[in-house]
Amino acid sequence: GLPSRVTIWEVGPRDGLQNESTIVPVEVKLEFLDRLADAGLTTLEATSFVSPKWVPQLADAEQLLDGLQRREGVRYPVLVPNERGLKRALDAGCRDIAIFGSATETFAQRNLNSTVEKQFDMFEPVVSGARDAGMDVRAYLSMCFGDPWEGPVPYEQVVTAGKRLLDLGCSQLSLGDTIGVATAGQVEGLLAAFAEAGVGVERLAVHFHDTYGQALANTVTALRCGVTTVDSSAGGLGGCPYAESATGNLATEDLLWTLEGLGVETGVDLDKLVATSKWMAERLGRPSPSRVVNALAG
Ligand code: HMG
Ligand code: MG
Repeated sequence: GLPSRVTIWEVGPRDGLQNESTIVPVEVKLEFLDRLADAGLTTLEATSFVSPKWVPQLADAEQLLDGLQRREGVRYPVLVPNERGLKRALDAGCRDIAIFGSATETFAQRNLNSTVEKQFDMFEPVVSGARDAGMDVRAYLSMCFGDPWEGPVPYEQVVTAGKRLLDLGCSQLSLGDTIGVATAGQVEGLLAAFAEAGVGVERLAVHFHDTYGQALANTVTALRCGVTTVDSSAGGLGGCPYAESATGNLATEDLLWTLEGLGVETGVDLDKLVATSKWMAERLGRPSPSRVVNALAG
């Protein structure tokens, strides 16, 4: 069956924008966040406290959080890789953070300048420090299905890394198909492997990029397996600068169209979101890749 309600974890302001080569003004980012909240989204991944040399687009994280009018009932998680990032997030008044690990060696190297083993040493003090400060910590795991350099990734390798991230003290693990290669059978297989390893599906979220057009099918498959938190990006913006051939995330509008059709509640207003993505596409100077945005925006 399907859940009666799904929580959408909106990653557009972070995953969506991090790959944009032209720096988006902080005022535009702030208006984007406001519009997403107006549309009824309640989890808005706002930015990252990473090295500005690695992700120049998000170098304005302090300015962004300083200008942000936080809404009641809306969470604004931020990505944090290390203790330096945690300090910045604490200083900026953040309540929710996310660490982001890799299931594969090549991506641990390229995205974190680390290894699969060493990344846990980097994250351990981040999670414990954040928990001590009363923050909630999500963990991402990238390359859960396929890696552009290493090919298909064995379920066992993903489950082992994912459990270690959860065991650091994270409340939720988001399974990332960073390069959008997964197909529905693999999604079932990986979720079954986590269940077998004793990780309840209520602790898992899914994060699909749409490179091969599979993100929506994979998401519906995950929902049928019991997942109730789905990551998506308004207008289908996005891509990881350190992953070859990563395109945008599943578009939030495409997800909403399907969920509305299936009678699954989200609390999000599709028309307001489409208008927001149309506005954002104008700011970025190119059309949204979302089919639903293009069908409805006219
Ligand atoms: P490094 O170069 O090994 O680190 O990077 P370092 O400790 O040698 O520091 C290098 C410089 O960065 C130093 O500055 C540090 O101070 C500074 P310098 O002395 O050269 O002037 N620095 C920082 N500055 C600000 N904030 C910080 C910070 N840390 C160091 N937190 C590091 C290691 C982890 C920092 C780097 O690799 C990094 O920032 N990586 C982040 C890459 C990233 O953001 N990728 C995209 C997000 S992940 C993703 O998109 C996937 C996801 O969507 C799920 C999926 O799709 O699979 C989540
Ligand atoms: Mg991503």
